[in-house]
Amino acid sequence: MSFALRKSGPKPAPPRIEPASIFAIASGKGGVGKTWLSTTLATCFAQQGKRTLLIDGDLGCANVDVQLGIAPETDLAAVVAGWVELDDAVTPVNGGAGVDGGFDVLPGRSGSGALAELPKDDAAQLAAGLTTLAMQYDIVLIDLAAGIDANVMRLARAADRAVIVANDEPTSMTDAYAFIKVLRGYAPSVAPWIAVNMADTRVAGRRTYEALARASQTFLGFRPPLAGIIMRDSKVREAIRTQKTLPSIYPDAQAAIDAAAIADAMLRGGAIAEAG
Ligand SMILES: Nc1ncnc2c1ncn2[C@@H]1O[C@H](COP(=O)(O)OP(=O)(O)O)[C@@H](O)[C@H]1O
Ligand SMILES: [Mg+2]
Repeated sequence: MSFALRKSGPKPAPPRIEPASIFAIASGKGGVGKTWLSTTLATCFAQQGKRTLLIDGDLGCANVDVQLGIAPETDLAAVVAGWVELDDAVTPVNGGAGVDGGFDVLPGRSGSGALAELPKDDAAQLAAGLTTLAMQYDIVLIDLAAGIDANVMRLARAADRAVIVANDEPTSMTDAYAFIKVLRGYAPSVAPWIAVNMADTRVAGRRTYEALARASQTFLGFRPPLAGIIMRDSKVREAIRTQKTLPSIYPDAQAAIDAAAIADAMLRGGAIAEAG
C-alpha cells in the first residue's frame, strides 16, 4: 500500500531561518469552539498573506476537514501509521499556503483514535516532525483534542503559545483551569492566553476571563493574559452548517470581527491589554 502521493498545489517554500509562531488552540472541555476558532483564525491569517498551516491535533475526533468542507486524501492518522510522510499529508485549502486567502491543513481522521493510543515516543516524534514542518510557515495553528491527556500535552508542548478557549459554563472554566495548570507543569515554556467564546455580553465575557485569571493568579501564581472575547453569534452555526469559514461568507459578523481581533493580537505577539 502506498499513500506517498504528493498533493498537487503549491510546493512548500524552503525552510525559513525564523521559525513559525506555533499556537495551540486548547480548552480542556470539548464543544467550546476550538475547531471553529482554529479554522477562522487560519482564514484570517491567510487573508493577511501569512503562510499558514492548520494542524488537526484532534486525531480521535477530527473535524477540521468537516468544518472546511474538504475531503483530504491522506491525514495524520496515515502519517502515524507510517503510510505517508508528514509533508505528504499537507492538504491545500483555497489554493494552499502562499496563495491569497489560501492555507494548508494537516487533517486528522475521525474515529481513528490514533493520538490517544499513540505510544509516548511516537507522539513525541510526531510533535518533533510538526516543529520541523512549521519552519516552512509564518504561522501554525494546532487544534488540540479535548482533555489533558499526556498526548494532548505532548502536542501542546510543540507550541510557543496556547490559546485556551473557555465559555461561562462552570465545566468549561474548571477544565480550562485544569489545562492551564497541567500545561504549567508539563510545558512551562508555552505561554497560556485565554480566549472567551460564546459570550452573551462583553461584560459577561470579561467576567469569565476574570474568574479564570483570578484562579490562576491565586493557585498558580500567574495571570494569563486575555487574547480576546468572542460574542455568541448565530452566524457561526450557519457557517459550520454550510462548511464555509465565517470570515469568507460573513466578514462583518460579530464573531468574525472578534476572531480577527484575536488574530491581530497573535500576529502582534501580545495579548489584548489587561484593561477594558
Ligand atoms: N461564537 C459562537 N457563537 C455561537 N456558536 C458557537 C460559537 N463558537 C462555537 N459555536 C458552536 O459551538 C459548536 C462547537 O464548536 P467546535 O468548534 O466544534 O468546538 P470544539 O472544537 O471545542 O469541540 C459549533 O458547532 C458551533 O455551533
Ligand atoms: Mg474540535
